[in-house]
Amino acid sequence: MTLKAACQAAFFFIFERTFIFLYIARFKTTWSLKMYRSHTCGELNKSHLEKKVVLSGWVARRRDHGGVIFIDLRDQYGLTQIVFNPEFDSTYYELAKTLRSEFVIKVSGTVFERPADSHNEELSTGDIEVFVSELEILNRSETPPFEMDDNVSVNDEIRLKYRYLDLRRNKLHNDLRIRGQVTSIVRRYMEEVGFTEIETPVLMKSTPEGARDFLVPSRNFAGKFYALPQSPQTYKQLLMVAGFDKYFQIVKCFRDEDLRKDRQPEFTQIDIEMSFVDEDDVMRVASGLTAHLFHEILGIDLQTPFKKLTYAQAVETYGSDKPDLRFDLSIKTVSDVFRETTFNAFKDVLNRNGRVAMLVLPAKHAITRKQIDHLVEHAKKYGARGMAYCKVTDGRLQTGVAKFLSETEQQALIDKYDLRENDTLFFVADQYDTTYNALGAVRLKLGQELKLIDEDKHEVFWVVDFPLLEYNEEEKRYVARHHPFTSPKREQMDDFDKEPQKALARAYDLVWNGNEIAGGSIRIHSNNIQQRIFNMLNIGEEEARAKFGFLLDALKYGAPPHGGIAFGLDRLVMLLTGNESIRDVIAFPKTSSGLSLMDNAPSEVDEDQLKELHIKLRT
Ligand code: AMO
Repeated sequence: MTLKAACQAAFFFIFERTFIFLYIARFKTTWSLKMYRSHTCGELNKSHLEKKVVLSGWVARRRDHGGVIFIDLRDQYGLTQIVFNPEFDSTYYELAKTLRSEFVIKVSGTVFERPADSHNEELSTGDIEVFVSELEILNRSETPPFEMDDNVSVNDEIRLKYRYLDLRRNKLHNDLRIRGQVTSIVRRYMEEVGFTEIETPVLMKSTPEGARDFLVPSRNFAGKFYALPQSPQTYKQLLMVAGFDKYFQIVKCFRDEDLRKDRQPEFTQIDIEMSFVDEDDVMRVASGLTAHLFHEILGIDLQTPFKKLTYAQAVETYGSDKPDLRFDLSIKTVSDVFRETTFNAFKDVLNRNGRVAMLVLPAKHAITRKQIDHLVEHAKKYGARGMAYCKVTDGRLQTGVAKFLSETEQQALIDKYDLRENDTLFFVADQYDTTYNALGAVRLKLGQELKLIDEDKHEVFWVVDFPLLEYNEEEKRYVARHHPFTSPKREQMDDFDKEPQKALARAYDLVWNGNEIAGGSIRIHSNNIQQRIFNMLNIGEEEARAKFGFLLDALKYGAPPHGGIAFGLDRLVMLLTGNESIRDVIAFPKTSSGLSLMDNAPSEVDEDQLKELHIKLRT
């Protein structure tokens, strides 16, 4: 290209861009003047005094004050006080009288400073008000079933039925916007540290993963079903076989299980998988992401690496595999003190390889007999047959169970655990899980009721060395504690199937203030080990082929060592926004029985639809 041609091309390029820019700019100006607003309801301040503005929004509140009407006009960004003062302009005064809560209006007017005594420091627009010269009612509203005010308490069912109104309320609305920020921060962070987001199918093969599947009948294949993924676990492993080194996905998961405050039938995971890694590599990425979110959303700098507790330490010290470490009460295993006991309740348990454990409530937290009775009932809810207690009085153990404990046992407890006057002791004797679960539940209840929990603290840590399996009493067989693709510990590779109850998993959970926010593991990448695990789980070769044939095949074609983790995004956002239920950070959640009260899902379907799906209902 000659110099002249190059200059011409550059000239036309610049000319064309300038033209397009001016064209759009012209359009933009007309748009902002002609359309619904020049500013948002959270934007105006003293720098806009005497400007003409156009605002649109919902009528949040209307007050008539001696011939002047004040309205708080609301949109997503805030509230602005608008004023209909007939002395300023009477044209729309009568129409303004007809405005009711939640009407949608557009006004134009002039910004003035509020009188000195009516500035509102809590509002970003609290220094100004807009005197209206034009009003247009864009839409009317029926009287809403509740006020869009955070301070008004509303029945949960009504909130869910009118979720679109509930979502207009400030806290819920803002928390959902924070959820949006969280997902975009996560995406940016994960991409920055080298991960690629890859989508995986929502209609998949039913592969048991722990919970019940949601099934989708196939129209084309009579009697066959897809399942909705409980998690993309198998797919992300296949992506590792496919050579994608670092995968992540923000993904919907579906589990048909009993719901609680921290469980929904459909929820979202930040799902992560990596090749050529061990536990610490995965934990490093997950810790980095957590610390980044703390910094960006809460402005708190967490210290990394996070500390690690083994599963046994967590359970035996705090009675939970997701303990709340914001308060100190800890459980002591006292089986050794009672090896020779004549107290039958303890003796029988120890003879059956159970455990006796004790929780000490220090003297400064005196509690009443009635509170103790409640705690005993609480322990029973967690499977304990009872909970014994006694108190240190005059240097001895007295009341309750004390009379069954020998002098030597009492003295051993006092000396070994440095018990002090007026300490209260609680004992549970039962099989391992029940003993620690029950005392853990009592510990948590004491923490909550005696306000021992430091609400300003953030305790984020790893729990590692989980048992590989757990025994399912109903099915009379071992089941995988995490999922059947989790690798046994390296050092147990040769003999993990000889003593299944002792096998440990290369699994890790991330816990924040008593909530499990993420869980993952290093996977099995060898077909042979995977088969041995299936054998332990009593899954025969045929069943394994039918259920996981595709994965077993993939493991034969050079699967790299790999591992990963998944965060519960809903739980994470719940905690980041200071909520107590994940429902408060999900736009359209289900009730605890899995209903959507707003649109009545699940609902009946037409006979024709059923016919197409080859389904006949048993009525
Ligand atoms: P897991 O089953 O531990 O692991 O799930 C990972 C995280 O997801 C969240 N979570 C839930 N959140 C809301 N409602 C539910 N019903 C629900 N169930 C789980 C929890 C949990 O820590 N595929 C593996 C991950 C892996 O191994 O990489 C998995 O899904 O915060």
